[in-house]
Amino acid sequence: MKPKINRTAGVYTPQGFDCCQTPGYALDPLLPCLDRKWVVWEPACGEGYLSAALRTAGFTVMASDILAGQNFWSEQPILWDCIVTNPPYSIKYAWLNRCYDLARPFALLLPVEVIGAKRAQTLFREHGVEVVFMDRRINFKMPLKGWAGSAAQFPVCWVTFGLNIGRQMTFAELAKPGAI
Ligand SMILES: C[S@@+](CC[C@H](N)C(=O)[O-])C[C@H]1O[C@@H](n2cnc3c(N)ncnc32)[C@H](O)[C@@H]1O
Repeated sequence: MKPKINRTAGVYTPQGFDCCQTPGYALDPLLPCLDRKWVVWEPACGEGYLSAALRTAGFTVMASDILAGQNFWSEQPILWDCIVTNPPYSIKYAWLNRCYDLARPFALLLPVEVIGAKRAQTLFREHGVEVVFMDRRINFKMPLKGWAGSAAQFPVCWVTFGLNIGRQMTFAELAKPGAI
């Protein structure tokens, strides 16, 4: 197996919120915005909850992760139309930049604070962005804690490009807190 080197030098060991796993219900407000014909790439799939939920919703999904030897910066599936993932937050701005460089539609689950960051705004101004906010915090699965009591201490939103939602900001209601 290839060494797990992430974008920054050194062997990559996920820590902190790089280890969080996202429940499928986080996709609820995003699914109506995705073209049903698209092949979705989940390039930081972790334990695979998002990719499983996308498949359940009827999408063809290509899933990869540096922990399985596939670095987002150097490998991609032969066929894909759209990226959907919760990326590693330790390199979230570099990840956002890379997604814009790939020049295909994407949806990244990111902390809401990203909207206020100059690094992100520079990219939004240059390329465009549509954001789907949610009225509840996502209950991530965390190492040691599991799903129980692991509610995020910060709100997240779907930062999207190329989905043609038609509004720069959408305020979605999450119907089911806690369902995986
Ligand atoms: C926050 S977790 C999200 C897992 C999954 N997307 C989810 O939402 O449940 C971030 C994942 O990014 C992976 N990762 C970190 N750096 C990466 C890289 N350069 N290329 C691909 N995956 C990477 C980590 O191994 C980890 O599984």
